[in-house]
This record gives sequence, C-alpha cells and structure tokens, in this order.
Amino acid sequence: MSNKRRGSVRIRMDKDTIRRVIARHSALVFGLLVGMAATSLALLQPMPAIAQAPAPSEAAGAAPAVSPSGFNAQAAAVPQGGPRAPSDLSLGAGLRPDTPSYFTRIFQSILDAPLPSLIFGQGGIPASIPEHEVDADPTGRLASFQPLGPTTTATNAFFQSLGENGRSCVTCHLPPNAMSVSIDNIAARWNATSGADPIFAPIDGADCPNKVFLAQQGKLDPRSAHSLLLGRGVFRIFLAVPDNAEFKVEVIHDPTDTATTQPPFNHDGCNTDPTFSVGKDATTGEKVRILSMYRRPRIAANLPYVTTTRSDLGVDPPPAVDPVTKLPVAVGSPPVTIDPRTGRPISGNIMWDGREPTLEHQASDATQGHAQAPNPPTSTQVAQMVQFELGIFSAQIWDAWALHLTAAGGLGGPEFISGGVPGLPAQTVAVPPQTVPVTAPPPATANASFPLFNSWATLATSAERAAQRQSVARGEAIFQTRVFTINGVAGLTNIGSVKPSTTGTCSSCHNQANAGNDSFVAAQHDIGIGGTVAAPGHAPAGAPTTIPGPSTELPIFKLSCASGKSTVYQGPVVVTNDPGLAMITGLCADIGRLTVPQLRGLAARAPYFSDGSAATLVDVVTFYNNRFGIQLSNQDIQDLAAFLRSL
Ligand code: HEC
Ligand code: HEC
Repeated sequence: MSNKRRGSVRIRMDKDTIRRVIARHSALVFGLLVGMAATSLALLQPMPAIAQAPAPSEAAGAAPAVSPSGFNAQAAAVPQGGPRAPSDLSLGAGLRPDTPSYFTRIFQSILDAPLPSLIFGQGGIPASIPEHEVDADPTGRLASFQPLGPTTTATNAFFQSLGENGRSCVTCHLPPNAMSVSIDNIAARWNATSGADPIFAPIDGADCPNKVFLAQQGKLDPRSAHSLLLGRGVFRIFLAVPDNAEFKVEVIHDPTDTATTQPPFNHDGCNTDPTFSVGKDATTGEKVRILSMYRRPRIAANLPYVTTTRSDLGVDPPPAVDPVTKLPVAVGSPPVTIDPRTGRPISGNIMWDGREPTLEHQASDATQGHAQAPNPPTSTQVAQMVQFELGIFSAQIWDAWALHLTAAGGLGGPEFISGGVPGLPAQTVAVPPQTVPVTAPPPATANASFPLFNSWATLATSAERAAQRQSVARGEAIFQTRVFTINGVAGLTNIGSVKPSTTGTCSSCHNQANAGNDSFVAAQHDIGIGGTVAAPGHAPAGAPTTIPGPSTELPIFKLSCASGKSTVYQGPVVVTNDPGLAMITGLCADIGRLTVPQLRGLAARAPYFSDGSAATLVDVVTFYNNRFGIQLSNQDIQDLAAFLRSL
C-alpha cells in the first residue's frame, strides 16, 4: 500500500482547528459531568432515593456509595499528537511468529487506516482502580472488585496508549460499564468531544475509515460517519475470508455505502470499497477478501470463567473438540491447543467467534489492531494486561427496585463470583411441573447456573422489598427450569447427530455456574443473532422459521456453499449479517455460530447481543420468546428482566 493513499486518507488539522477544539472541550467537559449527573438522577427518579451515607452497607435499602471515578472525565484528556509520520513498515513487520492467520491477513490494512484527527492523552484515566469500586448505572449500581488489591494505572499496560491512535484497552473496556462500554457512555463521549475521543478512531470506531475523511471534507455529517457505533454500540471487526472457505461471499447490502446517492458513485462502504474490502496476506502477499462485521465489546471481567471449562475441573474427560469444526467429538480425537499459562487446553470461548486461543494472544492482537500499534506489546506489557483482566470481577450490587443484592441471603455482587470456582457446570435441579405446553416431554431435571437469589423466593410478604425480590427469584427460576424447544441451533442441536430440536432452558446454554457463559469448550451456537437464514428461494424443508433474518441496518452477506456443502439447518445458500465462526474455520456448518457470552453486569452495558440489536433486557427476553416459542407471560418477561438486571 503506497504512502500516497495513506497520506490522502489521513486527516490533518491545522493549529487553529486544534485550538478551537481544545477551547470547546473545556466547556464541554464540565457540561458532560453535569449532564451525566443529571442523567443518572433522572434515570433514578422513579426509584427509591439513593442513600446519602458514603459507606457501603448491606443493610437493605442502603445503596453503596458511588466511587469517585475518573472515567467520566476521560474526554478531558489533552491532545498530544497529530497524524503519524508516514512509515515504511514492510508487510508483516513486527508480527509475532505465532500470530494467527486471520490476523496476519488483515494486519496491513490496520496500519493503512487513517488515524483520528486528534490523539488524546491518558489524562481522564484515574490514577488507581480501587479494590472496590461502585458506579451508577441506569437501574442501580454496578460494583467491581479486585481480590488482589488495587491496580495502579500508570504501571499497567491495559491503561497505556501503546499504539498510534491514542487508545488503550480501557478506551472500550471500562470498570463502570462492567468492562465493556455502554451506548450511553459512547454518546456522552461523542457529545463532549465532538467525536474526537479515541474511541471514535476511524480504524474500527467509524462505519468505515473513509467516512471520516468524507466528513472532514464536509461531504458527510460527522455523526453519520460513526452511525453504527453511535446507534448500536458496535465496532467494525474485519476479517479475511479463509482461503479454504467452503463458501463464496457476495455482499448484497451495505448500508454504509452512499454511492447510490452521492456522485461520483464510487463505492464507499467498507464491504464495497476495494481499499477496505480487499487486503493482502502479510506473509504470502496474496490478495484476500476482507469482510467487515460490526460487533459489541465482550466484557473483560470475570475472565477466569471464560478461560476455564468444566473439562479443566475433571467434570468431563479432557475436551475432545474437533480442531476444525470445533464441535465436541469422541474422546481420543486429535489433541487441542494447550494454553501455556494454564497448561490446560484452550477454552475456545474467547471472542464472539472463539478466534483468540489465549488472553495473551488476544491482548497482543488488540494492541496491534484496535490501538494500531506497529509492533506487538512486550511480554511484560501483555502479562500486565492479562493480570488486570483476570483479577477484576464485575456484577450488579444494588438494584433500584430490589435494593441491595446481597441482602436477605442474596448472593449478587462481584465478591461472590470472585470467590466461585470457574468452569463449574450448573448444578442439577428438579424441574417443577410446567405451566406452559412444551412440544416434547420436559426432562425431570435442569441446570441451575445461578444459585444467587433462591433465598428470596420464600421471603415473607412483610419482608423488605418482598414483591420486588420475589420477582428476581422467579426470574432466576424461569431461567433455570422453564423448559422449551430449542430448534435448529447450529453448534448445539447437531452435536453427535443432526437433530431438528432438543429441549432445554436458558441455562442449557448459559450453563456455567455464576458467570452464565457456557462451561463447555468452544461453545459457539447459532441462535439467530446475525439473522442467518436461507436466501430467498433457497429455503430447505424444515428450516426454523422464527429467525427474523438479517438486519438491513448492517451489511448483508450472501454465502453460497460449494457443491455438497451446506449449513446445518438453512441449506447451502444463506444470507447473514455475521458469518461468525465460519470466518475462522471456513466451514459452512459454522456459519452464524457465535460464542455464548457471560451474563454479569448486564445493567451497566446495554445494548445486548453481539450486534447490539437488543436495546433493553426486555428486548432480549422478547427475542427468545419469539425465536423459541417459549410462551412466556408478561409477568414472566418482567421477572426474567428483573433477574437479568440483578446479575
Ligand atoms: C475499540 C474498542 C476496543 C479496544 C480499544 C479494545 N477492545 Fe477488547 N474487544 C472489543 C470488541 C468489539 C470485542 C469483541 C470482538 C469480537 O469478538 O469479534 C472485544 C473483545 C475483547 C475480549 C474478549 C472477552 C471474551 O470473553 O471473549 C478481551 C479479553 C478484550 N477484548 C481485551 C482487550 C484488551 C486487553 C485490549 C487492549 C490491548 C482491548 N481489548 C482493546 C473492543 C475493544
Ligand atoms: C441455544 C443456546 C442458548 C439458549 C437456550 C439461550 N441463550 Fe442466551 N445467548 C446464547 C448465545 C449464543 C448468545 C450470543 C448471541 C449473540 O449475541 O450473537 C446469547 C446471548 C444472550 C444475552 C446477551 C448478552 C450480551 O452480552 O449481550 C442474554 C442477556 C441472554 N443470552 C439471555 C438468555 C435468556 C434469558 C435465555 C432464555 C430465555 C437464553 N439466553 C437462552 C445462547 C443461548
């Protein structure tokens, strides 16, 4: 890629513009802080008054005091730099020898993408992340806990800008947002900095890097250059179609392409502009096809639960996972990759598509990707990032309706999960008689992954907040014992043999005790997020009909499988917003499979699902109710949402 193109896309700002932006910041940052305080108050209006007492107390009703956190002031950082100097980095420079192939194939386009117009310093990051931190969220308080003590941010690479665009890991993984980033936080940062905060870096914080350039030229409203991040909280994840892919890809819709309405009709969507949709393999120099998908950050907290599986505890034999299909296979199958830090087989559950084998690998790739660092971080820096991530636990601690989540025997909050055993499968409990019809006889027992609020089920009606707490307890019981038909889920209902359906509960997939991700290895399941369905005219008999199909707010890909190859349930020709695991394995059977996520700290990190399609927890539950025909009553929906909100 020539420096000419790099120069032409890079955004330059003269001194006057920079001065104007700084002047605006001083006013805006104050406005932001006041605005945020006002928003939290407004949101908390219908709820009980927040206790004034500063000391966290487990007495019912007393809300733990919010820690003075510097995160909201992140936008107050001082601009430090401008465009990076043209570099003559050769293909693949500085890459670790064991860098995964999906990464080497897109590495150069990361270095070629323009930098943000201003590069912010780290001034908004607090000096220390305390051992206990409590932050307000829209329905209560979220707490973070570091059992090993506070973290000094100046000496931990998680908080340092190691790349060229001013970002650090904490740009997108913040303790107040359960180590993800909420759409409210993104909006506040946009408003405070007019989009100059490093989270909006063109590389993946814009619909496509070229949009930022158009906005700079006045050809596009700056907000619409970042419409997907502002509208759904999603970042651009760009991956090369594997060489061995069983499918061919056609882009049939790219909402970020303005070519049809704006002369000179050059295609400018990230999936249609050749600059961003065609790349070069860093090792072989061959042309590769790059797809841009848009995904939410997963939470970088409670991570021992993501890297540990039930097999590590000896609950199951060592994971017998086909290294290609990632489906569990018979014991004695080919060996799986070992994580050098733990000495255990990798979990296969890091990232929405399981593509990162270890947290160390992930940290290195994220530094070179999101932060646009030309060289990988040192092993000391990687160790610091991983140590912090593994040592921070996040969970809701106080709910505006049920109040303190550790009161009256409740086991909410981060301390309980920090003391739990990662990898533990859910405990087996009896299924109560069903009040709703199921299409197959319900099993006698189910998995209880969250034994957190069952003591609230039997509270006396006179007890404090009995009605609200019983709603949470009912939600927990529905989550664990309400049986429904799970049909056509690639990665689940085809284990062993292809079956049209099985019966299960929410905790069949969200089955890891305390965290609610999957305790099995390589747990990527296609539940219908991404909308993978047969292309019009290609629907096979018996395909599930309750998947809404791909959203037109995101790019839509048409994947046509080679002769003899097919998806599991939707036939050989499908449309989707996100091929998921198939972008890593190249297999048609893996199209649409995405990793079962943790369910803690949900209240602090809306919107939900990998594509940000569910704005609220009621939307999440409604999705499942429609997709799997669960027949939840309105009360059930409210109860489930109350439970999810308390996690
Ligand atoms: C620009 C925003 C952004 C930045 C900066 C960022 N991340 Fe992420 N992170 C994401 C997104 C988006 C995902 C999910 C992507 C996917 O799965 O395809 C993610 C996923 C992760 C995960 C996976 C968690 C899980 O359970 O699967 C970890 C761990 C993580 N990031 C750590 C880091 C570290 C360490 C850094 C700094 C080197 C970092 N992130 C920087 C956005 C970001
Ligand atoms: C067949 C497996 C399966 C079942 C059953 C299931 N889930 Fe999920 N769940 C997933 C997968 C896979 C995802 C990630 C999909 C995505 O976002 O792309 C997910 C995502 C979620 C999320 C979003 C989390 C986030 O970080 O955005 C919530 C909340 C959730 N599920 C709750 C539930 C509830 C409530 C039920 C029962 C009504 C349920 N799940 C049943 C597999 C399942």
